[in-house]
Amino acid sequence: MSKQWWCGRVMPVTLTFVGAIGLGATALLWQPRPVAAQANTDMYVKTVQPIFANNCYRCHGGDNHRGGLQLDSKANILKGGKDGPVVVPGHPEQSLLVTLIRHEGPADDPKPMPPKGKLSDADIAAVTAWIKAGAVMPD
Ligand code: HEC
Repeated sequence: MSKQWWCGRVMPVTLTFVGAIGLGATALLWQPRPVAAQANTDMYVKTVQPIFANNCYRCHGGDNHRGGLQLDSKANILKGGKDGPVVVPGHPEQSLLVTLIRHEGPADDPKPMPPKGKLSDADIAAVTAWIKAGAVMPD
């Protein structure tokens, strides 16, 4: 291995390689914030809101606020119901809403939600994942 070969070939290749990794890492580190926030809003708009609209709005939307709870706007969702907040962003295990849709709460006051039937496992998982990811939603 001559010195010339080392400097002329190996060094440039190595430096290019290191540079590429550096650029890649920088790109990765810069991306996540806006991308994650966006994915999260999408999560609400595309998945969670339709679940609420189809299963909850008739009692918790528009003029209806059973249990003091409306689920049709960010402010109302975060305000919660007669027992206080129902969504604790980042903490599904502390969120009354999750406890109730899993039918893990009391039999009455507040009872399992929706009162008749149960959401599909996929819907429950989607709502839980959304709250765990910070319950981000558009205003
Ligand atoms: C048929 C009407 C009806 C539907 C549909 C319904 N709810 Fe309710 N909900 C109620 C009533 C009535 C109460 C208050 C009852 C109680 O406290 O036992 C309540 C209470 C709640 C509470 C507790 C509020 C508090 O502070 O105590 C949560 C959380 C809740 N509902 C979530 C949901 C979700 C999520 C859905 C949809 C998956 C849903 N509900 C669908 C009637 C409904």
